[in-house]
Amino acid sequence: RTVYVNGEYLPETEAKISIFDRGFLMADGVYEVTSVLDGKLIDFEGHAVRLQRSLDELDMQSACSKEELLEIHRELVRINEIDEGLIYLQVTRGSDGDRDFVFPDPVTTKPTIVLFTQSKPGLADNPAAQKGAKIISIEDIRWGRRDIKTVQLLYPSMGKMMAKAAGCDDAWLIEDGYVTEGTSNNAYFVKNGKIVTRPLSNNILHGITRKAVLRLAAEAQMEIEERLFTIDEAKEADEAFTTSASAFVMPVVEIDGVALGDGSPGPIAQRLREIYLDESR
Ligand code: PDD
Repeated sequence: RTVYVNGEYLPETEAKISIFDRGFLMADGVYEVTSVLDGKLIDFEGHAVRLQRSLDELDMQSACSKEELLEIHRELVRINEIDEGLIYLQVTRGSDGDRDFVFPDPVTTKPTIVLFTQSKPGLADNPAAQKGAKIISIEDIRWGRRDIKTVQLLYPSMGKMMAKAAGCDDAWLIEDGYVTEGTSNNAYFVKNGKIVTRPLSNNILHGITRKAVLRLAAEAQMEIEERLFTIDEAKEADEAFTTSASAFVMPVVEIDGVALGDGSPGPIAQRLREIYLDESR
């Protein structure tokens, strides 16, 4: 596979980054994941805007312009012949060639930019979405700026490992008694036809898929309520689902061992998945 590192397209085995890079030493970096369907980027604009916001919030330099980024995304899709899959983009603060808590001088230090593709045939017709996901709930002990898409993914990784150990697919995170989001997705439940999801704040990532799906749901005359909700409410719901660039709309069929509805993907989640995929293609 060909990857992109700081202006160059290289075979993945030849790509090099300094061991002093602050992304590596301090998780001082941000990322985006954009999906590809039929060789086309899904919502590149939304991801580019959120990337810029993450960089601004951390006082980090832009590695390149939006136009250049689009060109790199398209070039990697072309070179690696990606029909269905994902593009991962990461920008880290780089380094002055030593370890220091203090940020290096942005004038003399360039950020490090890396992009690679992940081919995922069957991403749209994912059998996992036909089965639906089983989730567990765990405490949300992440830092308070989850609206910034940083590469600090240790706790989300641990959450997915805890889910796996419990024979489940993913975890939802709970803070002060309320669901924040999934380890790598936004969380929703449906009761009596109404879709409920947590409002945007610093406590959750402002999902690009969330925005598109809520718009599509409103256009389809579905009722939406943005408010805090507990895991117990979700367990008593008719159905539930998550959204993310990597799984689109994923029905949730079980929460902490409690089956939702008849234990199969719900009609609203399935319909939103279809509408979202139809519009994206
Ligand atoms: N994760 N919440 C969290 C914590 C996330 O990491 C993600 C995305 C989302 C959904 O955002 P979007 O719809 O923009 O993908 C919500 C990506 C896919 C990942 O880490 O792989």
